[in-house]
Amino acid sequence: MSSSAPIGVFDSGVGGLTVAREIMRQIPNETIIYFGDTARVPYGSKSKQTIITYSRQIVKFLQTKNVKAIVIACNTASAFALETVTREVSIPVIGVVKPGAKVAAETTRNGNIGIIGTEGTINSGIYNEYLSETMPSVKVYGKACPLFVPLVEEGWLSDPVTVEVAKRYMAELKDYNIDTLVLGCTHYPLIRHTIGSIVGDKVTLVNPAFETARTLKQVLESKGLESVTPAKEHKFYVSDGAEKFQKFANTILPCEVVETKDVNIESLQVL
Ligand code: DGL
Repeated sequence: MSSSAPIGVFDSGVGGLTVAREIMRQIPNETIIYFGDTARVPYGSKSKQTIITYSRQIVKFLQTKNVKAIVIACNTASAFALETVTREVSIPVIGVVKPGAKVAAETTRNGNIGIIGTEGTINSGIYNEYLSETMPSVKVYGKACPLFVPLVEEGWLSDPVTVEVAKRYMAELKDYNIDTLVLGCTHYPLIRHTIGSIVGDKVTLVNPAFETARTLKQVLESKGLESVTPAKEHKFYVSDGAEKFQKFANTILPCEVVETKDVNIESLQVL
């Protein structure tokens, strides 16, 4: 595998762009092939088996682009499909949950950690599992916040409605004396200021995207796969609504997205 090959990054839609952005910032020589499954978003309310099927199709698509590594830039897909996908391909696969859990464990001082994410991620108990491995005494309080994703997709990042919804969700976590809160869904970093203003500055917000990019960098280095030449043009693919996706991407990425292509992902057969 050539070190100048691209990195495949995928998510259920636009949320994974927060991870792609972090990769572009931290390892600017890497070229990204991004796939957003905009036709089938949200993943957060779907079953494990469905998310595994979707993830396998996307991985198959990314492999046709000769990627040298894959980042599952979606917490729900990381929770449900990382293990399966890792087993089935011979290139490195990195999820966002383990890096997020690692930072949370390093950040907390009182051992009380809040996790917010989709129903899928929270109900999977995956953050709890990873955190308990490194910190047996940790207390993890999960809260699914399903309304955040559509609010972010709508661009209502600090709208009064979003603030009100966030207040209701966060009220439940207020009783647990958490000092660390993991933004366990790719969309949430985009409303971190709204969330932060409600939980207050005694609670540190953890964005798994930063540590995921760092982990990717380390993995590439350890395998001699880091690109030593400047990145080529990043490529963007979606399963629906290329124009809307591109508009959103251009508001958050440090590069200009000039083209987004539609892919018929359902046509990719996996066993
Ligand atoms: N990308 C998903 C995640 O991080 C959030 C959006 C969805 O539910 O598909 O869990």
